[in-house]
Amino acid sequence: MRGLFITLEGGDGAGKSTQIRNIERFFEEKGLVVTHTREPGGPPIAEKLRAILLDPANSEMDAVTEMLIYAAGRAQNVREIVEPALERGEIVICDRFVDSSIAYQAYGRQLGDMVAEVNRRATGGLTPDLTIWLDIDPETGKARATHDKDPDRLELESTAFHTRVREGYWSIAESEPDRFKRIDASGTIDEIKDEIYHFLEELCKARGL
Ligand code: TYD
Repeated sequence: MRGLFITLEGGDGAGKSTQIRNIERFFEEKGLVVTHTREPGGPPIAEKLRAILLDPANSEMDAVTEMLIYAAGRAQNVREIVEPALERGEIVICDRFVDSSIAYQAYGRQLGDMVAEVNRRATGGLTPDLTIWLDIDPETGKARATHDKDPDRLELESTAFHTRVREGYWSIAESEPDRFKRIDASGTIDEIKDEIYHFLEELCKARGL
């Protein structure tokens, strides 16, 4: 049987890494094999592209260049990690996926429809079975984030940019309510975990797991 593809979205301070560990635990407790990957990044080639994308020194990067590099890394991640694991019947958890490009590049950078089209080509049309969006307003997120690293190139963008990014996520939530689940990430770690587990249980039930 083909595996399940689950993606997580959410910005600084939303608690994404903690909840990814909770999701992994959920499936491991069911005795299922979990593969974890991330974007930008994943396989070595895509990790090299990640370094280019996030380097604050690359302030001259054009928006179309940026969008294509995210899509390039994604093509490699899908072909090298995600698809093979799904074919082996594993649970694949990806930290960010195409929805990030819709939010940041189509809405944030205002590149519009071409982003979805390029990403359809990059992924061969692969769509997650479930996406969890940990929504937090950018200011609250910034205040909550553990500042253990310097801000990356995208984090240095304006409040207006991050407001557009959030609008992008809202529009996905409205157009794909079955796949794309919004969770208010201003709650406690345990409250968020309970909400996520509810969606995971629903998904498992629908797939007979
Ligand atoms: P990362 O350190 O993984 O951020 P986070 O911890 O917030 O997940 O850096 C990813 C950055 O790249 C983040 O600011 C969002 C941005 N991004 C895009 O702009 N487009 C994309 O397609 C993806 C995957 C990420």
